[in-house]
Amino acid sequence: MTKKIVDLRSDTVTRPTPAMLAAMHAAPLGDDVFGDDPSVNALQQKIAALLGFEAALFVPTGTQSNLCAILAHCQRGDEYIVGQQAHCYRWEGGGAAVFGSVQPQPLNHQPDGTLALDEIEAAIKPDDAHFARTRLLALENTLGGKLLPFDYVQQATRLAKEKGLMRHLDGARLFNAAVAQAAPLRAASNDDRPVAGPPQGRPAPSGGSAAHAVASVGATSPVAGPPQGRPAPSGGSAAHAVASVGVTSPAAPSAGSGLHAVSERGGAMVEARRIAQCFDSVSVCFSKGLGAPVGSVLCGTQEFIARAHRIRKMAGGGMRQGGMLAAAALHALDHHIDRLADDHALARRLADGLAGIEGLRVEAPQTNILFVDLTGAARNQSAALLQHLAGHGIQSTGLYRLRFVTHLDVDAQGIDRAIAALRAFFKA
Ligand SMILES: Cc1ncc(COP(=O)(O)O)c(C=O)c1O
Repeated sequence: MTKKIVDLRSDTVTRPTPAMLAAMHAAPLGDDVFGDDPSVNALQQKIAALLGFEAALFVPTGTQSNLCAILAHCQRGDEYIVGQQAHCYRWEGGGAAVFGSVQPQPLNHQPDGTLALDEIEAAIKPDDAHFARTRLLALENTLGGKLLPFDYVQQATRLAKEKGLMRHLDGARLFNAAVAQAAPLRAASNDDRPVAGPPQGRPAPSGGSAAHAVASVGATSPVAGPPQGRPAPSGGSAAHAVASVGVTSPAAPSAGSGLHAVSERGGAMVEARRIAQCFDSVSVCFSKGLGAPVGSVLCGTQEFIARAHRIRKMAGGGMRQGGMLAAAALHALDHHIDRLADDHALARRLADGLAGIEGLRVEAPQTNILFVDLTGAARNQSAALLQHLAGHGIQSTGLYRLRFVTHLDVDAQGIDRAIAALRAFFKA
């Protein structure tokens, strides 16, 4: 019998669950270009209310959501300050510049994914005809799976406001950030299990739990390790990150099967709103960890959303019976947020299972994305490793670093198969 493929390339690969499909099938429909699709309207109202905004706009993709946001905040000749690895700078084809004549001002990330406050301040141009007008600060949370520390989010957005900039959040994975931000509370109150395993090196012989990993990673502390796409400084932070994962055996019995039952329900929504309220606009994707097939939502003031609505039209993003897709997003809002904790636990399970392999440097995951660097003699084996994994039914990407992403369609068994396949490659 062929084994099920374990697809760890991205959290975008999920298929709608039967319950989500049923919700889509039952959705009341209209024509959203006429503004009368009840399901789209319900989704827009619900997410705006949940995150504390006046209005929201349903769009087909996260890319279009960011584009509408940047173009609704900025005019031609304006610029936005953004991270080098931010999706709305690096990974969206330069859309803001191409379609809106809005220039990005990219800044390097700090190891924890943040943009240094003094560098943001220094990048803001004086009002002078030589310069583009600096209009907007765009942050991303999570960024490459990293949770931006909440005090940093507050400081950076306060600074931007003081300097007269608008603030946009690419919250494609806002709910992953929110669940991770809520996690330390949960760990303190609910996790009374003993912390198992040595702090670094080889796997512990038995015991351990994914919940332990929640505690030991410490979701609000800046986790060391290089930003996405840059090599780790030698002997530094990434090594610490490996240690801080806490090495346990891959033995969390309930990971991927209801771990979120112990999470504090509602805590994630409170955190999502706290993060969102630091910004003037927020984009959230439903087609990633939340498991919907398509769709993002942009939130902001009525006036801002009216401008974004016009841009969505120009970009061809007005969908007619979009309610079928909005129903999937509504279902995800009701059923798939708390369970993101399961995905995070599975990423930690994978990290724990890979600890101690010579030639692999594992960056402690904070949410559902795990980055792994090949080191030493293994450095150039990325293509061979990906091929080996594919041969074992494990799909992953290695565009710039090995990346494994957990999601709704991956379970503990699949993760254990990935661990076994990786260990087999390294004969570890
Ligand atoms: C952080 C982030 N923002 C935006 C997007 C764009 O989303 P979409 O693929 O729906 O255009 C992605 C896609 O992976 C993303 O990771």
